[in-house]
Amino acid sequence: MWKTMILLVLVNVINGQCSCSKFTDESSCFAYGYCLFVNGVCVEQKCEAIPYQEKCKSPLCLWKDNKCLTFKAAESTCQTLLPQQCTEYQGCYYDYTNLKCQISNNCSKLEIDQCNGQLGNGNSCIVDPFNNKCQEMTDCKSLSTEFMCLSQFPFCLYQNSSCKPSSCNEINDSVSCSIMDQCQWNNNKCEIKNCQSIKFGYQCNGKTCGFDKDQCFSCIEQYGYQFFAGLISLLFIL
Ligand SMILES: *[C@@H]1O[C@H](CO)[C@@H](O)[C@H](O)[C@H]1NC(C)=O
Ligand SMILES: *[C@@H]1O[C@H](CO)[C@@H](O)[C@H](O)[C@H]1NC(C)=O
Ligand SMILES: *[C@@H]1O[C@H](CO)[C@@H](O)[C@H](O)[C@H]1NC(C)=O
Repeated sequence: MWKTMILLVLVNVINGQCSCSKFTDESSCFAYGYCLFVNGVCVEQKCEAIPYQEKCKSPLCLWKDNKCLTFKAAESTCQTLLPQQCTEYQGCYYDYTNLKCQISNNCSKLEIDQCNGQLGNGNSCIVDPFNNKCQEMTDCKSLSTEFMCLSQFPFCLYQNSSCKPSSCNEINDSVSCSIMDQCQWNNNKCEIKNCQSIKFGYQCNGKTCGFDKDQCFSCIEQYGYQFFAGLISLLFIL
């Protein structure tokens, strides 16, 4: 029972993305993810229901022939992507030999100079030039060499001969810090983001925080709160 609950919390944190229903202001709603304001409430939309090109974004949606479509990687769909769009969509890689975007099924089948993009499962293909191979990255720990680990900086760090996910306080420079959605640069240190302290929407919106009515709030805390509220109700029921 507890294991399942801990797992639930972890899943929530990993998927930590604000739910559209938390946005009450129309423009804040529009500015976030795949949310649109419909009949006075902010709701997550399927690609097909998004009427604007600027909202029809990767990785889920693709604007084509003046319509927004759900992107599903296939030989034919990857090939219609522009070179600069290719690796934004899961399941496609850019083939530098034939100069086109192709479906990506298995990293280890790619030559190292073609080793880019993500598989359909969202895992990236990472080059290992010293062993002349292309490897699927499931997480930082799966990267076996220092070179591959460094290629994923600042998300992964190579320490004690192994690659591990980095935490905010291990990052020393502001640029790397700002690349990590869960971190913020504050007083010359990289720290875990404190959503409430962020003043501007463009610095706020992301997987960790969302911006509504001139305030930046934490997506994850809300999930946590919902979870604990759920847990407490459950305890009363049982
Ligand atoms: C990918 O290709 C390699 C080499 O051909 C093979 O050993 C492996 O089983 C394949 N993986 C998947 C998930 O198909
Ligand atoms: C690295 O390994 C050494 C020896 O096993 C250990 O004492 C040290 O704490 C480790 N450092 C880190 C950062 O894990
Ligand atoms: C940050 O600085 C410390 C102390 O100088 C150093 O040990 C550490 O490796 C640095 N971290 C990174 C990610 O460069």
